Amino acid sequence: MKIAVINGPNLNLVGRREPEIYGHMSMDEYLCGLVSQFPDVSFVTYQSNHEGDIIDELQRVGFDVDGIVLNAGAYTHTSIAIADAIRAITAPVVEVHISDVQSREPYRRVSMIKDACVAVIAGYGLDSYRRAVEWLIERHPND
Ligand code: DQA
Repeated sequence: MKIAVINGPNLNLVGRREPEIYGHMSMDEYLCGLVSQFPDVSFVTYQSNHEGDIIDELQRVGFDVDGIVLNAGAYTHTSIAIADAIRAITAPVVEVHISDVQSREPYRRVSMIKDACVAVIAGYGLDSYRRAVEWLIERHPND
């Protein structure tokens, strides 16, 4: 089974960025541990601060992998273009957030992408990513 993890803007700074919200562990360290927890899954990971680059990556992997874990960061709340890209590809996309966006500022409660995604997992810290991978594995148990 192949899973892509795509991170949007500022997620490269997790560990240093607002640690009271996003925690102290770096994204690279977390993703290394995540990959080692699922030896039967082939992972591709990607991060960009640029909306168009995220769309390019969704298009690049979106007809090949079995699932995508997407934390679009702040683009979650604004990007119709990312929502359209998710709808355009065949791989199921799980929307993920480290923080509990529903209990934060009102503008974070809006997701432009959620209706294009198969599930939303938020508020479990970095463990939201592992939960999303588990969700995708359960959906494709024979791959
Ligand atoms: C985030 C929540 C977003 O509102 C924010 O803009 C982020 C991170 C999260 O993982 O909790 O950059 O997606």
